[in-house]
Amino acid sequence: MTDAPFDPSEHFDESLVARYDRRIRRFCPSYDALHRMIAPWLRNVPEDATFLSVGCGAGAEMITLGSEFSSWRFVGVDVSADMLAVCERKLAEAGLTSRAQLFEGRLQDYAAPAPFDAASSIFVAHFIKSRDEKLSYLRAVANRLKPNGIFVLADLFGDKSAPEFERLSEAWRRSYASNDVGMAELARDRAHIERDVDFLPEAELVALLSEAGFESVTRFYQTFLFGGWIATNRRRG
Ligand SMILES: C[S@@+](CC[C@H](N)C(=O)[O-])C[C@H]1O[C@@H](n2cnc3c(N)ncnc32)[C@H](O)[C@@H]1O
Repeated sequence: MTDAPFDPSEHFDESLVARYDRRIRRFCPSYDALHRMIAPWLRNVPEDATFLSVGCGAGAEMITLGSEFSSWRFVGVDVSADMLAVCERKLAEAGLTSRAQLFEGRLQDYAAPAPFDAASSIFVAHFIKSRDEKLSYLRAVANRLKPNGIFVLADLFGDKSAPEFERLSEAWRRSYASNDVGMAELARDRAHIERDVDFLPEAELVALLSEAGFESVTRFYQTFLFGGWIATNRRRG
């Protein structure tokens, strides 16, 4: 085993992409609810809004919001060509092709033609290991938003030294195992989480968001160790 940094794109080759929809709902039993819970926070966004889905994966955010907000336009950014290929198919099935564009690469390398009204990063940033890199990623989101633009962040989080962390982990493992997952798969997934996820206590996450340029950070969602926050870009127009 090497100490090479976790590369999310390696985790989404063709066969894993095919399994992603099933696996993500085992990991996060309220995955669909999380995506549905985003829309109410975006009601004041203009009717002709543009939305940036960072680490769009198979397009869940764009597809849910695209059916809710019929005149919004979307950009999905992802480092994984395999995920983007699936995303493109799913956008077409949802009738969203004409309202969505995809960019293959890191968010930090995406040159946005104009700032966005709102953005999401769902289950992406927890894989970024160093504080500096997390900060540069969150700044890259803030820099691509309009003043007062809305940011939806969802990630695994928690203070590993707190007793609550172990209680939530244990309940989460039981929930996952209840899906008839075999012992080998359980062990593999547990090792993946322990090796690849950088859990931050909520206070540190909020401090990072603030340093990156966000304010009014509000947790709107939690399932086991998955959390979701809404934040506003501090820059004024
Ligand atoms: C766990 S998936 C989440 C996909 C989707 N947001 C969802 O909720 O199902 C994380 C995605 O983030 C992408 N990713 C990781 N780091 C990225 C970065 N810096 N810029 C763009 N995409 C990134 C990965 O390729 C992967 O497809």
